[in-house]
Amino acid sequence: MSYKTSEKNQYLDIVNIRALERQFQNSMKKENHSAEADFILGGAGGEETLRANTDDFRNFKIIPSVMHGLFDGLANTSTSFLGQKLTLPIIVSPSAAHGLVHENAEQETIRGVAESGSIMTVSHFSNQLISSIHDSSPETPWLYHYDEDSDPGMNRFLLDTAVRNKAKAIVIGVFGASFGRRERDLTNKFDFPSDLPFQQLSAYTDYPKGLDILSVNNRKHSDITTDRIKVIKKYSKLPVIIKGVQNGTDAVRAIEAGADAVWISNTGGRQLDGTRSTIDALPEISRAVNKRVPIIFDSGVRNGQHVFKALALGANLVALGRPILYGLHMGGSKGVESVMRHMQGELENTMLLSGVKNLEELHKYARVERKH
Ligand SMILES: Cc1cc2nc3c(=O)[nH]c(=O)nc-3n(C[C@H](O)[C@H](O)[C@H](O)COP(=O)(O)O)c2cc1C
Repeated sequence: MSYKTSEKNQYLDIVNIRALERQFQNSMKKENHSAEADFILGGAGGEETLRANTDDFRNFKIIPSVMHGLFDGLANTSTSFLGQKLTLPIIVSPSAAHGLVHENAEQETIRGVAESGSIMTVSHFSNQLISSIHDSSPETPWLYHYDEDSDPGMNRFLLDTAVRNKAKAIVIGVFGASFGRRERDLTNKFDFPSDLPFQQLSAYTDYPKGLDILSVNNRKHSDITTDRIKVIKKYSKLPVIIKGVQNGTDAVRAIEAGADAVWISNTGGRQLDGTRSTIDALPEISRAVNKRVPIIFDSGVRNGQHVFKALALGANLVALGRPILYGLHMGGSKGVESVMRHMQGELENTMLLSGVKNLEELHKYARVERKH
């Protein structure tokens, strides 16, 4: 029997992401997929970082400033990133195996992202071929998530895939040289269902091997150095974004190696437990980056005030991980679109109530201060 899950395609009436998360969990349980739900919901260790990512937003307070004249009551959330126009400063983080939550997997996600006017980052741990994901919504700008592999041939294959399918940038994951110890998965003895193929990685078997210009001696998995960034940039001729930055020094190293953007992330608390939350790290990193390159921010973002705070503290874009998978499961592409529109609506509301009408004003004037 093959893995079966949601085939839904419906708009969702979202009051908040917390409630959507509960609906997701209940629905996965009904389908007998609680272990898969835990894989998505869970984090590493005792999940301290997972919780802190969302909880620590409370340590930062928005200070509204509304005594500078009325405007027309509309907030404009449009922006641009690496030459792409976006209707909102919210994008989709890379996550493996969308087929765990929806029958049409990543193809369905990218269609929802297209409708919302945003960008998706596609993981090469996708259940579908990258080419078929791209073809299902060819106009949608997307970024390619790349993890260095110990097999140089594989690295070339991954980068060629991105270039051939017109990715707008390569997102290099720098999340350490091992995987997080996820206690829920250990308890559940979780493994990916054997009948849910990772089509993109399987395609490597048929890929012509040959001279490998990406080869560097004795590299280990995830051994991304500043030299590697230069090689990858030169080979792909695409902008490179470094995802997983958690301190100012690493951000500066990434920029010096030629990174076109820095992506602050602790992978939603899935790797090393006990690290600080990303919102806690953002002010330090933002100072170190000093506007030289744009900043993407993720981990723990669950409402419009969170987005507002991250933008006011120096992020240019905010990315969502788990909430997108909840939307995908509960409503397919329309569910993904609903999550994006809900977050955009809350951001607009926050902007209006705090006295800024567009993102330029938000970056310049919005006040968010750390509570002492
Ligand atoms: C199921 C799942 C799989 C993920 N897979 C990856 C991955 O392969 N590589 C990576 O860098 N991040 C991965 N992430 C992390 C996301 O890209 C993102 O950083 C994180 O989910 C953001 O936090 P949030 O879920 O609290 O929004 C994954 C996240 C989830 C939920």
